[in-house]
Amino acid sequence: MNSDPRWLRDGYSEKWHRFSEEVLPLWVADMDYPLAEEIRSALIRRLDFRLGYGLQGGDPRLKEAIAGWLQRRQAWSVSPDQMWLNSSVVGGLHAASLGLCSAGEEILCLTPIYPPFMSAIASHGRVPKYSALVWGGNAAGYRIDFDHLRAQISPATRLLMLCSPHNPSGRVWSRAELEGLADLALRNRLWIVSDELHADLIFEGTHLPIADLSEEVAERTVTLTGPGKSFNIPGLAIGVAISRNRQLLERLKQASTGLLGGPNVLAQEAMLAAYTRGEPWLAGVLETLRHNRERLGTWIATHLPEAAYHPPEGTYLAWLGLEQLKLPCEPGKFLLEQGLVAFNEGSSFGPGGEGHVRINLATQPQILDRALSRALQALSPLRGEYPA
Ligand SMILES: Cc1ncc(COP(=O)(O)O)c(C=O)c1O
Repeated sequence: MNSDPRWLRDGYSEKWHRFSEEVLPLWVADMDYPLAEEIRSALIRRLDFRLGYGLQGGDPRLKEAIAGWLQRRQAWSVSPDQMWLNSSVVGGLHAASLGLCSAGEEILCLTPIYPPFMSAIASHGRVPKYSALVWGGNAAGYRIDFDHLRAQISPATRLLMLCSPHNPSGRVWSRAELEGLADLALRNRLWIVSDELHADLIFEGTHLPIADLSEEVAERTVTLTGPGKSFNIPGLAIGVAISRNRQLLERLKQASTGLLGGPNVLAQEAMLAAYTRGEPWLAGVLETLRHNRERLGTWIATHLPEAAYHPPEGTYLAWLGLEQLKLPCEPGKFLLEQGLVAFNEGSSFGPGGEGHVRINLATQPQILDRALSRALQALSPLRGEYPA
């Protein structure tokens, strides 16, 4: 793989062009790996034809491929008529906020959380009810405080907005945790919208969709997913909302009529190629991510043992707490200014995110090493150490 930042700076991207050239960017969730050949050739093949409107409602071959993918990888049976193909998972969160909840009603959400969850709630006048995950130390990581979560629920609470696997903590919720969340939703007649965009990026075991826990849960759940993260094609813009309860899908569609379009024809070709022929590429990427996760773990144990860190169980995002270091400002800002390395600022992930940074591990090992050594150089004077 090419680890020359000059190659990565080719073609304008949010990741590589937000900051100046001296900065190593390990922030926004975008991978530094070449496109899967299967996707590249499918896109080129499509360009030999026309780029007219795709079929309304989406390519039927694609819907079959999605059903096959979910069956193979998650043992989840979904049929094409339970899918709504659209152009954005975040758009799906907004559609759920609008379609399953009214202004002034409440949405339950675990924090810290991928920031668009918070805007999907607040920008439509819905009321956020946040419950911060509880840090149990480096060996245990985060857990859900179910008592606190339950206490947030009122008669005005309509929806549980879940991120599974969880961005930014990298938690892959256990069956027991998902059952706890589903139970809480059923008892309180909440809808569930579950963003499972990182489902293909888990390091052990298979992903368990919350909708697959029981018929009852399936009836109350909309699952949002897509190939954007796992195949690194977010710039193509495609997502799928899935529910056994077609009325819920209708409500999302109605709420976003004219605003959230269907996916473009190139995005559909890419997703079809990914879900029918992309598995070997994905397996290779997971191997690299596993190594990078180990590299980071070793680096923390050696150089920064006071950091709060539990290895991500899924996603390619690592979540690092630096509160113990008593930095003079927020850690992302400090590391950007003093170390010329860009991580996401923890405070942007809402309550519980302060004092943390999110590190994107989907890069070449050499770039990760370079970024970590810059971070160490920046942090060492504060810790009374001056590396050679
Ligand atoms: C949990 C999660 N949901 C949604 C998105 C973005 O989805 P989309 O680009 O399809 O709107 C991201 C991107 O990082 C993400 O991490």
